[in-house]
Amino acid sequence: MIIDTVTLKDLDEIYNLERRSFKKDSFSKELILNLIIKNTCFFKLIDDESSNSIIGFIIIIQDREERVNLINFLIKKGERKRGYGSFLLRHTLKKVKTIDKIKTIVLNVNSKNKAAISLYQKFDFRIAQRIENYYRDKQSAYLMILDI
Ligand SMILES: CC(C)(COP(=O)(O)OP(=O)(O)OC[C@H]1O[C@@H](n2cnc3c(N)ncnc32)[C@H](O)[C@@H]1OP(=O)(O)O)[C@@H](O)C(=O)NCCC(=O)NCCS
Repeated sequence: MIIDTVTLKDLDEIYNLERRSFKKDSFSKELILNLIIKNTCFFKLIDDESSNSIIGFIIIIQDREERVNLINFLIKKGERKRGYGSFLLRHTLKKVKTIDKIKTIVLNVNSKNKAAISLYQKFDFRIAQRIENYYRDKQSAYLMILDI
């Protein structure tokens, strides 16, 4: 397993994974394109360099001087519950810790998304707030925070 930075060549594959997982709540292709161009912390998990088949990805943006926001994270269906999500998140947190001044990592997660919430809690994220009507279909979200 290899973790690498996402490039423009990955755009279609990332977008297809995104649509399959998040359906109407998925990021648009334009947004993903912009995140790649802007040199965001945008990592992919691949089998090996020769196949470049993407198993999952994670996106983190710096939205305040002292804070980053984990805005997207997924592991492909059929590859979940094998430790890949933890592997990718652990790598990303290590990178974030090397960025100057960053004190916290925040994220929003659907309050019904037990898999993700449990994974984040394993990494010591805590639920800081419940946000009603956060998603298009009016479902609520949790704001989760990790101090680093
Ligand atoms: C959330 C997600 C990225 C986790 O990836 P993963 O590769 O399955 O995670 P791991 O195999 O590393 O699991 C780590 C921990 O997460 C939790 N977890 C993962 N899947 C779970 C499930 N179906 N039910 C409950 N807990 C689960 C467990 O605590 C697990 O630890 P354990 O194996 O010791 O029980 C993956 O489920 C996913 O892509 N979901 C769809 C997209 C999504 O919801 N992204 C998060 C948006 S905020």
